[in-house]
Formats: sequence, C-alpha cells, structure tokens
Amino acid sequence: DRLPALLQAMPKAELHIHIEGSLEPELIFALAKRNGVSLPYPSVEALRAAYAFTDLQSFLDIYYAGASVLLKEEDFFDMAMAYFQRAKADNVVHAELFFDPQTHTDRGVPFATVIDGLVRACETAQRELGISALLIMCFLRHLSEEAAFETLEQALPHRDKFVGVGLDSGERGNPPEKFARVFARCRELGLHLVAHAGEEGPAAYISTALDVLKVERIDHGVRCVEDPALVKRLAAERVPLTVCPLSNVKLCVYGTMADHNLATLLADGLCVTVNSDDPAYFGGYMNQNFLETFAALPQLGPREAHQLAANSFEASFVDEARKQAWR
Ligand code: HPA
Ligand code: ZN
Repeated sequence: DRLPALLQAMPKAELHIHIEGSLEPELIFALAKRNGVSLPYPSVEALRAAYAFTDLQSFLDIYYAGASVLLKEEDFFDMAMAYFQRAKADNVVHAELFFDPQTHTDRGVPFATVIDGLVRACETAQRELGISALLIMCFLRHLSEEAAFETLEQALPHRDKFVGVGLDSGERGNPPEKFARVFARCRELGLHLVAHAGEEGPAAYISTALDVLKVERIDHGVRCVEDPALVKRLAAERVPLTVCPLSNVKLCVYGTMADHNLATLLADGLCVTVNSDDPAYFGGYMNQNFLETFAALPQLGPREAHQLAANSFEASFVDEARKQAWR
C-alpha cells in the first residue's frame, strides 16, 4: 500500500495550528526549569498522563496551564522552531500559526515579547527550512469584547507582523456575534478574518461567523452537517473548513475516527483541509492526522489526498502568484 508514503511525501500547508498547542511536555519542563516556574505536575510522564480529555474545556484548562512557562522572547522562539522542525519532517511547506496573546499578556508578558519571538522563528523557518509562515492573532472568546479591543490596540504597533485575526477558546455560550464590532474593526484594518465555529458549538455559529463576522475560513466547522442548507452554501462558496481530525477524536466530538465526517464533506465538494490544531496534546502532527484519517475512512484514497493538499493551498492567505506556483 503506497498511500501512507504519498500522504507523508506530498507537500502541504497547515492552516490550523495553535502554536501554544505545539508545546511538548519535555519543552514545558525545560522552559519551567529555565524560567524558575513551578508546575503542578512532578514529571513529564505525569503531565502527559493528564492529557485525557472529555471535552474542549477539559483540554483548555491544561493547555493554558502549559503556556504558563512562556515568559521570554526566546521561549516563544524555541516553541515555534520546535514546531517548524516537525512541520518540515511532514513536508509542510507553508504554515499559518494561531497565537493567543491574551494568554500571555494577562500574565504580564508584553505583547512585543510574544510576537517578536514568533516573528523571528517565522523568518528563521523561511531561511533555514524553506517553510513560509504567517501569523494569525486569536481573541479568546471566553473573555470580553472589551478585552479583545484592548488586545487589538496592543497589536496595532505590530500590524505588519500578522496577517489576520481569529477567534478561539470555549465556544459554547460565546457566539461569534459577541465579537461583531471588533471583527468589523479588523476588517477595516485589512486583516484576514477566521473563526472557530461548529466544533462544539452549533451549526448556527458557522452561519453567524460568516454573516456577522464575515470570516473567510471556518476553523473546524464539522457540525455544519446539522444544517443541510449550510452544507450546500459552504460547498457553493468554497468556504474553507480547517478540520482537525485527531483533535476532534481527542475532545470527543467523535467517538472514533471511523465516525468522522471529513470524507463526506470532501465528497460533497467542500474545501476541507486537514490540520493538527494542538499537536502536542492531541496525538500528532500533520502526517499523523493524514495517516490516521485515511486509515479509518475507506472513502479516502490517492485522489482525496491530492484534493486535500490542493485545498490547503487554495485556502491559504498567500498571494495568487504563490498559489499559481504551487499548482
Ligand atoms: N478550539 C478552541 N480553542 C482552542 C483550540 C480548539 O480546538 N485549541 C486551542 N484553543
Ligand atoms: Zn483550534
């Protein structure tokens, strides 16, 4: 069977990776030691053993705790470089990285420390690994609209360092509409717009992310199937869905990978992409996501592999000339 070799070797873009979710337990412990931060877990093994999630919130609690070791620019650089090394091994040639500034600024880490460490890693990845990378700043949706506006203010002196904004963290009870005004402002600023929707939240959140926030891509979006008219619309408009199969299984959105709707959505003509979300927490990076999804879903073969790779470039925020070169 040559399918695994194809999945691994094909060039691909990753569009849904929270860089804080790439912090491996070993690096969490190394940074804790370097920064004199104490962790509520005695060992790497004990921390990893805690990665048994029942839903999104049970993951977020541990994910925010893990990020507490990030204090200096070098920490953000080291974290992102470790991700880029993994991406290179998986033949990722382009990556769009989410980062959560509020997770850090709320602990007293300056915004500039966060973004400058990440930008330096992106430049190093381009130069030393041949991977192009863009940054997307996410607002934490469990926090207020006012807090999102404050974060945007802090970001404006760094406007040229990121290409877009997103919306992440706990979805239920925090609908897209909560951030209508801040997204309208970001749109005026010429930023690209994306939002997590339809991961744990209802299909209606996908519709309002499109109609109220005017996002260009939906992160996850798998619950669109609960609204057949919405599925038709997503296909007709080629709205990209950045699907994260291992994440969905780890967070119990699906019982097993065999239950995942990725193959169905792809067959329905949606611009589905495969992504790792928080690879240090969910059991693997890009190729692991491809391998496990293709192993579990018999509808997926070489044609679908090529389609998913093509979709990842189509859905990316690089300019049209670069997209042409990838075709
Ligand atoms: N969903 C929402 N927020 C997140 C996620 C996710 O999968 N990963 C990191 N923050
Ligand atoms: Zn995500």
